[in-house]
Amino acid sequence: MRNRPVLFLLLALTISAQMPHGISGGVVVSQERLASEAGAQVLREGGSAVDAAVATAFALAVVHPAAGNLGGGGFLLSRPANGQPTFVDFRETAPAAAEPRMWLKEGAYDEERHHHSLASVGVPGTVAGLHEAWKREGRLAWPRLLRPAIRLARDGFPLSENQAASLAAQLPEFRKHAPTLAQFSREGLPLRAGDRLVQRDLARTLVRVSRNWADFYRGDIARLILRDMKANGGLLRSADLRAYRPVRREVLRGSYRGVEVLGAPPPSSGGQVLIEALNVLEGFDLKAAGAGSPAAVHLASEALRRAFADRARFLGDPSFNPDIPLDRLLSKAYAAELRTTIRPDRASVSAPDRFTWPRDRPDTTHLSVIDRRGGAVSLTYTLEDSYGLKRIVPGAGFLLNNELGDFNAAPGLTDATGLIGTPPNLAGPGKRPLSSMCPVILVKDGSVLLVSGSPGGRSIPSTVLNTVMNAVDFSMDARAVVDAPRCHHQWLPDRIQVEADLAEATKAALKAMGHDLIEVKKQGCAQVILVRDGRTEGAADTKRWPDSGAVAE
Ligand code: GLY
Repeated sequence: MRNRPVLFLLLALTISAQMPHGISGGVVVSQERLASEAGAQVLREGGSAVDAAVATAFALAVVHPAAGNLGGGGFLLSRPANGQPTFVDFRETAPAAAEPRMWLKEGAYDEERHHHSLASVGVPGTVAGLHEAWKREGRLAWPRLLRPAIRLARDGFPLSENQAASLAAQLPEFRKHAPTLAQFSREGLPLRAGDRLVQRDLARTLVRVSRNWADFYRGDIARLILRDMKANGGLLRSADLRAYRPVRREVLRGSYRGVEVLGAPPPSSGGQVLIEALNVLEGFDLKAAGAGSPAAVHLASEALRRAFADRARFLGDPSFNPDIPLDRLLSKAYAAELRTTIRPDRASVSAPDRFTWPRDRPDTTHLSVIDRRGGAVSLTYTLEDSYGLKRIVPGAGFLLNNELGDFNAAPGLTDATGLIGTPPNLAGPGKRPLSSMCPVILVKDGSVLLVSGSPGGRSIPSTVLNTVMNAVDFSMDARAVVDAPRCHHQWLPDRIQVEADLAEATKAALKAMGHDLIEVKKQGCAQVILVRDGRTEGAADTKRWPDSGAVAE
């Protein structure tokens, strides 16, 4: 009897279903079990993977306010059962008042304005983006998909230890803005595990969105956003909200050892970094090297170093950068050229000077879905920082993003403190800031093999690369794919980030090759679905965020 809770917990963390003739049951994996359950219930009612992803994303906006959102943006990659992948870009856009030098004050870089002011808020894309995806691939009624989120916001839900600690850690920031403090504290005191978090304003907003999604851009919700902007010096105006459109883009395609890779196109760099690095790795025998071996971590880091250098040079919003040389960057021939610059036993050098990358902003969240027909969705969305700008729109109950912090600092402003001033990603009216989000779907022999993605700022494509290597090169099961220690290299600063539980012998060998290492406790939070030998397995990243949950329909 005493072992029963442990048994239930193990069952909840890795869901596995026998699929004798292809997919016969769906799975939802996200960073909050309650949100996964909302999506799984939609699958039980016959909803598509997109339906489940939409319901899960709205529920995450309630139960995972650090990154789940209405006030942010992201990317939804779908591969419906018909096998024709689609991609909805609902990244935030800069307002008409934006310009490349907007983060300078009297000629000097103003970090506060770039990352923590109302000027850093982009037009939120989430509501329009989820609606756009549902319009084409939804099977259930739109209001049905918002029902769980409305209930969770109106009736509240008990906070986990994890959620209570996350909110308590932000209390000093929340105190700067009365509506945020009121929503996420008990009259200024920290909420505790087990307390119910009730969000009435958010429930009202969700009801409005369920009746008419466009209210967010040109109705009562828009009026609440604009009132806050005008009263407090924000840049968003009615015309910016009205002009917002999600964009359907062509999926970025690659291949890795015979497996098709479907990834995110610009304005994300996720697909470019992932596919370019995989192309380089394809020429090395990683299987023989072994998971977590010095050779595997060294080669992955060298491949990422080169892909990230190209990211910095070429990537930005494609509407403003029509000449991004993606064909070349993603070609096997280019990867072969890059391989000739990698020594198997020695670290390369990114740059002669030491360079401090700006503080990483890890708070983004990812969800993976597969439905019983074999349709799959990989969705990553974000507010940028944890809880975004930490600013609830008064009366509307949702947090604003500070996504424009993802634009480069100012023209030519690349320096040793970590500022980047390369042209493709400078701010401009209507422009989308470059992202690292990397939703991915792998397809083998015409069927989905892996659905994955992660938060983690610039480390996102590296985390996804690790999950792909674990599944394809090392044939791990879903649990091992998620749990294995991860690594990351981003060109500058010139060092490998490794998770602390990587073997000490591997760390020592990497140092002996000339690599600088930095250890972190955890990298990202990958939610994984793996289909192998007729079995669908969902594995939630509970090792890095305990509330994560995989729920089968
Ligand atoms: N704000 C995180 C990203 O878009 O990469």
